[in-house]
Amino acid sequence: MTNMRQEDGTIDAGGHPVVIGAGALGALNKRIGHLDPSACFILGDENTLHHCLPELLAMVPRLRDAETIGVPAGEASKSLPVCSDIWQHLTTRAADRSSMLVCLGGGVVTDLGGFIAATYKRGIRCIHVPTTVMGMVDAAIGGKTGIDVGGVKNMVGVFHDPVSVHVHVPFLRSLGKRELLNGVAEMIKHGLVRDADHYHALREAPLHDLDALIPLVERSAALKADVVREDPREAGPRKQLNFGHTIGHGIEAYSWEGGRSALLHGEAVAVGMICEAWLSWRKDLLDRESNDLIAQHLLSMFKPFRIQGGEDHRIIELMRNDKKNNAGQFRFALLTGIGSVKVDVPITAAQVQEALEHYRLLVREP
Ligand SMILES: NC(=O)c1ccc[n+]([C@@H]2O[C@H](COP(=O)([O-])OP(=O)(O)OC[C@H]3O[C@@H](n4cnc5c(N)ncnc54)[C@H](O)[C@@H]3O)[C@@H](O)[C@H]2O)c1
Ligand SMILES: [Zn+2]
Repeated sequence: MTNMRQEDGTIDAGGHPVVIGAGALGALNKRIGHLDPSACFILGDENTLHHCLPELLAMVPRLRDAETIGVPAGEASKSLPVCSDIWQHLTTRAADRSSMLVCLGGGVVTDLGGFIAATYKRGIRCIHVPTTVMGMVDAAIGGKTGIDVGGVKNMVGVFHDPVSVHVHVPFLRSLGKRELLNGVAEMIKHGLVRDADHYHALREAPLHDLDALIPLVERSAALKADVVREDPREAGPRKQLNFGHTIGHGIEAYSWEGGRSALLHGEAVAVGMICEAWLSWRKDLLDRESNDLIAQHLLSMFKPFRIQGGEDHRIIELMRNDKKNNAGQFRFALLTGIGSVKVDVPITAAQVQEALEHYRLLVREP
């Protein structure tokens, strides 16, 4: 069921609304007025406080008295020591249960800030204002929060719905190209699993042109909201979004090992989508032309990733550690066409290896 976007740009993501488009920050200002918190705190990282905060304060006058809390940019901030600093900071500033946290940033800031809001004094309200493509179309929507412990990503976390999410795409102006494409990989996934028109529009769009990107980011945010509304606590349908992620997570973890050049999540998912589209074809679910189109498209966007022939077993081992996979076998979300997906398709380790071999052939140097 497709989400109806109301005239003011609001869509329902189940546990919270997502306000998208030109009115997003105006709506944030109004909402803060209604909520009337005892105090507002703005959490950001060094980049978002520099690039996005001035525009936020200009467009949301009710935040002008808010205190800002800055964390270093990067995944390392999703950690217990950083949480501890923020909890203590909030205590020093006498933040009480009717205080509110506004999380201004990418997935790191919204995951971390959501977790802080869920836990400080047994829970305070938070609002997400995503500033990366990844944040706008994925991380900020759906109420999943988390931090990393002992090198394991998202090991500790809870579901904590924000009061609302406000997607103001012009924040992307200052985002680097690599980070932009990182999030576009998730948008491509949204099209591939749910919306063929969206996929083809993304394939044809000049991605460096923010004006062209705005409606596409908004469409992807709406698609993510749809899936979350159908399945707020990941009981089933949300598994559709795992397309590209089963092998992608293995590739991502592998890229962090032994001095390899670490891939961003979306870059690893792009490799995963090429492998998993091929598996979809191999399982007679997807036609050959669609598979070729997807592979060609993703290879034209992302640099090839080199996997040594003898190391597939390591990627498969890392896939087994992923919380989504049971010990014995892999269950994939595979494409049944461009724009449709089938979940829980069983795949063996030998088939994963064939898919990796296929990718290796595609990117081999002449
Ligand atoms: N909760 C979920 O459902 C969910 C979903 C997907 C990803 N995530 C999490 O999201 C995180 C990744 O998010 P991300 O890719 O947004 O990374 P990120 O938050 O680290 O942002 C990437 C980089 O861009 C910078 N940046 C952010 N906005 C900017 C802007 N407008 N201009 C200039 N620089 C800007 C940041 O400072 C950072 O250096 C991971 O920790 C991942 O686990 C969570
Ligand atoms: Zn992802």
